[in-house]
Amino acid sequence: MKHLVAPSVLSADFGNLQRDVEMINASAADWFHVDVMDGVFVPNISFGFPVMEALKKHATKPLDVHLMIVNPDQFISRFAEAGAYSITVHYEACTHLHRTIQAIHNSGCKASVALNPHTPVDLLQDIIGDLDMVLIMSVNPGFGGQQFIPNTLNKVMQLRNMANRHNPELIIEVDGGVGESNIATLIETGANAFVAGNAIFAAPSPSDMIAALKSVPNG
Ligand code: DX5
Ligand code: ZN
Repeated sequence: MKHLVAPSVLSADFGNLQRDVEMINASAADWFHVDVMDGVFVPNISFGFPVMEALKKHATKPLDVHLMIVNPDQFISRFAEAGAYSITVHYEACTHLHRTIQAIHNSGCKASVALNPHTPVDLLQDIIGDLDMVLIMSVNPGFGGQQFIPNTLNKVMQLRNMANRHNPELIIEVDGGVGESNIATLIETGANAFVAGNAIFAAPSPSDMIAALKSVPNG
């Protein structure tokens, strides 16, 4: 499958949100990446339902919702109603992960689990068959514009090996510090969806950067 590019709305200009949404609509991007932070699971607060509803009103591409919140279960149906295409919950925030994944599927969304940089991919062995996607955090979650953690490459490789055995269709998304300098290597190691915030929005032309990330060859 051709890799997917998901610009992170966290790095957009919230004073000109509609403009940035329209830029993404018209670009080569595949998804909108929507980072929801609660100030408890991560040391930052981003935005919630009102902003997500505004996004949904203007976005013509799927919303890839990344929940960096504790107890995500209580909000899954609301994120689905607000227009999520996929919902990612953190492994570290879910005591009953299997139940949470079922709830995401029952809400009509694709189900995904995120792993923090310190969380081993092995822990997904008994759930990987139920997932549509795994999000590998390549920075500590909470902020855009951080530096890529190199051990991510080992994790992507291990996860792709596990997926080949248990769930060959699994999408592996990498989130944090992704840009032109590392996307080709990440594709080679088996990732096929990429979040990019700073790399896109700090570029002289964000839509040209999206096109550049999208046009990196696969294998
Ligand atoms: C970090 C968020 C990311 C972030 C990525 O906690 O999950 O999605 O916006 O931003 P960059 O690409 O700037 O690292
Ligand atoms: Zn994210």
